[in-house]
Order: sequence, then structure tokens, then C-alpha cells
Amino acid sequence: MLRMALPTGRTLKQAAPLLEKAGYAPVESLSETRKLLVPSKCGRLEYLLVKPVDTPLYIEQGVAEVGICGKDVLMEVGADLLEPLDLGISRCRMVVAGRPEIERRLDNLLSPVRVASKFPRVAQNHFRKKGTPCTVFKLSGSVEIGAVLGLSHYIVDIVETGTTLKENGLVVHEEIAECSARLAVNRAAWYARLAELRELLSNLKQAVEGD
Ligand code: PRP
Repeated sequence: MLRMALPTGRTLKQAAPLLEKAGYAPVESLSETRKLLVPSKCGRLEYLLVKPVDTPLYIEQGVAEVGICGKDVLMEVGADLLEPLDLGISRCRMVVAGRPEIERRLDNLLSPVRVASKFPRVAQNHFRKKGTPCTVFKLSGSVEIGAVLGLSHYIVDIVETGTTLKENGLVVHEEIAECSARLAVNRAAWYARLAELRELLSNLKQAVEGD
């Protein structure tokens, strides 16, 4: 039996029907149960339910051979994992956003730009690449308020429908990356459990392409 780390929350809602379509329906509803380990009806998978930001760690450490991770989280964590399949779900954009009026030019190299983000590493890397000095404040959620109240000039965050930005009077200033959920695999497991993982990959691929 392979263990698959699954992120709870928004991605799980979209991943559950895909997993079912691929032949790996769980024995009970993954969004309703309080259990953290749930087997599939077919007995070939065991689901491990964890916070989205923790999924790469469980896979990298081999506690789960495989898992579903958002590209946003993979970029932030920088885990050394194989990413053999884009599942095409949980599509969003990683952006630099802020108030519509430019308060602080992004190409001003003289003083650090202040940035609030749940993705501090992505934010640092983005501004470093541009050669813009920055101070990054790590927040755990409700990031938009950082730019609204002036904690930061900008935020680096994911945008899905754009509603949260709009309702808080913010706009996108730059796009950093297109993100979606990926099938992520532990490198050692790919060799040790090749046949099982190939079968899983092929079933998931069919479920993704059959849409
Ligand atoms: C995410 C993200 C944005 C929002 C974007 O937050 O950080 O705030 O969703 O989605 P939208 O473009 O569809 O409005 P989440 O809902 O995970 O809540 P959080 O702020 O508590 O992290």
C-alpha cells in the first residue's frame, strides 16, 4: 500500500473527485472525517491528511511515498521532490499586489521595499532576482491587510478568483508564476516502488486527461 499525503482545505475538495475517478475512492469522506489516515476502498492507497504547507515535508522524509502539493507550496518550501504530473486543479497565480497607486517604485534600489507574505521565500527570491532590496514580513493569513494598512508596500500572495484583492481595494502589480496542484513523489520511493507508482501515475493521468 502506498501512502499519499493530501492537503486539507480547498485543494482537497478538487482532488477528491479526481482520486475517485482514478479508482482510489476513500472508505469514508475525506472532507468530513476527523481521521488523519484513511485507506482507499481498493486497498492500494492510504491517505494522510495534513496542512497544505506540510505536505512536501512528509513526502521528502518518505513518511508518504507520494502526495498532492500546490506549486505555490513547492516553490516556497523548495523540497527535493519529483513532480511527474500537473493535476490541473487548484489553479491560481502567485503575484505581487498592492494599492492601485504606486507608492513605492519596484525599481527604486535605494531603500528596501516592504513586503508581507505567507510565502516569504518566494517573495525574497523574486525581489532578489530583480535586484530590489526588500524586507519581508511573514504572515500566516489575511495578508491583504498588510498592504491596506501600510504594514507593507506590497504583498506576495496567490490569487484565484481575484475577489479578495478586489474587496480590499488592491490590484496585481506583477505576476510571479502560474500555479496548480502537482503529484509529488519521493525520489527514493520512485525507484523502490516503481511499479506501484507508475500504475498510480497512469491512472491519475487518465483521470486528468479524461476531463
Ligand atoms: C488565499 C490567498 C488569498 C485568497 C485568494 O487565502 O492568500 O487571500 O485565498 O483567493 P481569491 O483570489 O479567490 O479571493 P485563503 O483563503 O487560503 O485564506 P488565508 O488568508 O486565511 O490564508
